Amino acid sequence: MQQGMDDGSNIDYENAQVAFDEGGRPFIILRDQGKTKRLRGLEAHKANILAARAVANVLRSSLGPTGMDKMLVSGDQEVTVTNDGATILEKMEVDHQIGKLLVELSQSQDNEIGDGTTGVVVLAGSLLEEAEKLLDKGIHPIRISRGFDKAAEVAVQRLDEISDIMEWSPDNLKPLLQTAETTLGSKIIYRYQKQMAKIAVDAVVAVADLERKDVNFDLIKVEGKVGARLEDTMLVKGIILDKPMAHPQMQKEIKDAKIAILTCPFEPPKPKTKTELRISTPEAYQKLYEAEQKYFVDQVKACKDSGATLVLCQWGFDDEANHLLLSHDLPAVRWVGGVELELIAIATGGRIVPRFSELAPEKLGFAGSVKEVEFGTASDRMLVIEGCPNSRAVTVFVRAGNQMVVDEAVRSLHDAMCVTRNLIKDNRIVYGGGSCEMACSLRINDESNSDNTVEQYAMRAFADALEAVPLALAENSGFSPVAALSELKAEQIKTKNPYLGIDCLQRGHMDMKKQRVFETLIGKKQQILLATQLVRMILKIDDVMTPAEYA
Ligand SMILES: Nc1ncnc2c1ncn2[C@@H]1O[C@H](COP(=O)(O)OP(=O)(O)OP(=O)(O)O)[C@@H](O)[C@H]1O
Ligand SMILES: [Mg+2]
Repeated sequence: MQQGMDDGSNIDYENAQVAFDEGGRPFIILRDQGKTKRLRGLEAHKANILAARAVANVLRSSLGPTGMDKMLVSGDQEVTVTNDGATILEKMEVDHQIGKLLVELSQSQDNEIGDGTTGVVVLAGSLLEEAEKLLDKGIHPIRISRGFDKAAEVAVQRLDEISDIMEWSPDNLKPLLQTAETTLGSKIIYRYQKQMAKIAVDAVVAVADLERKDVNFDLIKVEGKVGARLEDTMLVKGIILDKPMAHPQMQKEIKDAKIAILTCPFEPPKPKTKTELRISTPEAYQKLYEAEQKYFVDQVKACKDSGATLVLCQWGFDDEANHLLLSHDLPAVRWVGGVELELIAIATGGRIVPRFSELAPEKLGFAGSVKEVEFGTASDRMLVIEGCPNSRAVTVFVRAGNQMVVDEAVRSLHDAMCVTRNLIKDNRIVYGGGSCEMACSLRINDESNSDNTVEQYAMRAFADALEAVPLALAENSGFSPVAALSELKAEQIKTKNPYLGIDCLQRGHMDMKKQRVFETLIGKKQQILLATQLVRMILKIDDVMTPAEYA
């Protein structure tokens, strides 16, 4: 029963004020009576925890390499199938305010780290579940928060202890590849795990500044196009132009290309106002025809004279010009978009030329190679421009049979690229499969015994909450969850090996170091810190006022 409402009259006396009318009769003024709903104290805590757990429960079944995917249909019937925690929550359109905090939690893991967005929510949900039990025991939320904080500190320390350094170099990318593979292992595209991991790692390493240990993601352009197969996905160390050569018989590959970048069309100049041309004799017609032809010849010659070996044109060209270009052995591309033209101009160091008369050798762009590539059908052709002097930019070109898979592949590659970037920043890793969570849980349990305040209960609860990760992994793999968890716990205690985790893929042993299940240390730390922070925040809320119609 809420405070101030215990006389059964349903009047919230805290919001009430007594006033007197002109006759001296008392009356009660109530502020917002009936408009807001209010929850306080334990009731507020419980309602919040319930809402947050409901959101977290949705994600539990998506955790791990054997986790399920979710299909989300938006209001306008757009379908998304994904395994990415942040995307699931984003598309779920969570309405509840506390639920939204979890969505943000997952998003902040996504922004900072990129991977681990499911795990962080599962952990937060489990921490809240444990917190609720403690609240029921009568422990004050602030004590719970403090206990959780202490436990998180112990966990982070333990993670540091059990972390390993991954030595890698541009000649030895194997450690990066293996970590990216673990990330991709839980995604829809896991069948091409090795190929995709290589693409992600190569892309990041190509643009990474190894001295500053920094990666500028702006230099990596990820483009998806429906068509072809997932395994046709490729990394281009340059720019992709979604256009074929103007004529199918033109040269397909140009080495050391000198590129003329034109914004003028290959055609005779047209009068701007309405004009009428009268031709009365066949000779006059012949003359006109010849004069027109000369324009084409001159234009092609201007390109040839400047030394260009490839022409990119913003406009279309006449068939006549196309034929002439072909016969002069000058490959050309028409209808190149303005944005792409600019991008190519910057990357190749060329100038955009608006008139044929302005063409000059120094205005040409340069590229190591320009190639026309074909996918599946002949109509699916595009140009790959590589070896540009002014740009280290790379393009990951994702192909798949439908938009849904293209989108998910783009998201998964993003996760893998983030993990690679994180490893470049900090090359320490921990082992996955719930092994590090279990190791932290055991350490927190030990430490809690030496704490003689009420907070020891909260620390133990935190230790229990960490077990949610291996528990969910076991459950999703079809094992008997509690049995698998207790076996794991017993083994870790017996062997003192912190690398033992859940053998999701049933490879026959639990050692995640041998199974090569790697996660970045910063990612794991971030998960624990963010989840704890969020739980503390929720525990500090003891009064919820919402407009009644939403409550
Ligand atoms: N081969 C494996 N064997 C056991 N556990 C694994 C294996 N591969 C990954 N895992 C574990 O699965 C969990 C990661 O699952 P998943 O990728 O679905 O979620 P996430 O990384 O938290 O979120 P998201 O990838 O959606 O951002 C980690 O705990 C990781 O250790
Ligand atoms: Mg992941």
